[in-house]
Amino acid sequence: MPSIIVTGGRPLSGSVRAGGAKNSALKLMAAALLAPGESVIHNVPAISDVDVMARVLEGLGARVTREDHTVRVDASDVTSVETPYELVAQMRASIVVLGPLVARFGHARVAMPGGCNIGSRKIDMHVHGLEHLGVDVSFEHGFIDAAAPEGLRGAQVILDFPSVGATENLLMASVLAEGVTVIDNAAREPEIGDLVDMLTSMGARISGRGSSTLEIEGVRTLTPAEHTTIGDRIEAGTFLVAGALAGGPVTVTGFDPSHLEMLLNKLGAAGCEMVVAGESVTISRTEPVVPVDIATLPHPGFPTDMQAQFMALMALAQGDSVITENVFENRFMFADEIKRMGADIDIEGHRALVRGVDRLEGAPVCSPDLRGGAALVLAGLVAEGQTVVTGVHHIERGYEDFTGKLASLGADVRMSEE
Ligand code: EPZ
Repeated sequence: MPSIIVTGGRPLSGSVRAGGAKNSALKLMAAALLAPGESVIHNVPAISDVDVMARVLEGLGARVTREDHTVRVDASDVTSVETPYELVAQMRASIVVLGPLVARFGHARVAMPGGCNIGSRKIDMHVHGLEHLGVDVSFEHGFIDAAAPEGLRGAQVILDFPSVGATENLLMASVLAEGVTVIDNAAREPEIGDLVDMLTSMGARISGRGSSTLEIEGVRTLTPAEHTTIGDRIEAGTFLVAGALAGGPVTVTGFDPSHLEMLLNKLGAAGCEMVVAGESVTISRTEPVVPVDIATLPHPGFPTDMQAQFMALMALAQGDSVITENVFENRFMFADEIKRMGADIDIEGHRALVRGVDRLEGAPVCSPDLRGGAALVLAGLVAEGQTVVTGVHHIERGYEDFTGKLASLGADVRMSEE
């Protein structure tokens, strides 16, 4: 079974570049479905989730070609509107083809996304929003069937919660609707802004970028676009925490530091020094880790995708900290694994009480999910002895060459296939 083997105690220093944002690139690829012709998306990371999205698009009849970090999607001859269960089950983000398919073809059949191990991952907001736009949604044999034979009509949609996926699906459904759509309580993650930018370059008329209220004036047709994905703030944040744990100085480039303002604030409060310059942040720490409470929230709050990585840092703080997970209902599995390395953490519902310890010990551990897996590798960087992390497929979903990038900073880390 493949594993990542890391031997702790090595200092980290140097510079590493974040790739394109996974949580943007997947949606930019889906947006290409909205227009006949070939869209070109640059700075797409070479990760398995992108492979799955490419297969989803090819299954619909689009032609997808990839060279280096550029993906070309020709949606001229989309022949199907159905996405099979086996692909959606691999990656629930496949659900974002729903909006573009029903917008352009008036019909979509997408397998219900299973839950995953961080929560039930419901789609009620996606469905209710599409129904407001005139889509008839039904559920049969594990599929969502969305039909709008007369086309979509603009409407006012207020999201119960600023869901990233629901905002994206409704954005992509509304750009070809008749009339004006307003999405209120929309998600404000930077990846939404990136999608708005690509849709705008395709000819969409969207105002309110970056705010909680997006207004979309439907147009009749869109044209393909060429777009460069923003840098991955979560990959960048993961490497910044590596620098915080090992002491650094570590420089992370290739992303917009303003996309990580809350994380940088919390790393500063935890005793790290940071120098922000253009598309790079250099982090170092010479003082003991200061305990800092965090609560995950929709952007610009503390990102839930950085919760496990930050918990790894708090595990070694000089004191107690409380980590509250407000976005997903079951995103503390990482805690169970890092406790095997000697961390002292008590979970009570949505709260984790982290009592800092002096050191962690290397141990065999298993990635519970994408970010928890990355955080276990981070913990291994500063644990005494060897840590063997299994469940590597989770990590490969969202990190291109994770061990190679860490090794380039001086870490003693490698992939093992046996
Ligand atoms: C996106 O997931 C990201 N994934 C997640 O990153 C990220 O954690 C999340 O946004 C929050 O930032 C991608 O972009 C591919 P949501 P998404 O809809 O869109 C509930 C990673 O590690 N909800 O904002 O699924 C839902 O169950 C991944 O890269 C409903 O109840 O997130 C969750 O508890 C993990 N009904 C909360 O809202 C709905 O209709 C936030 O979900 C939709 C969502």
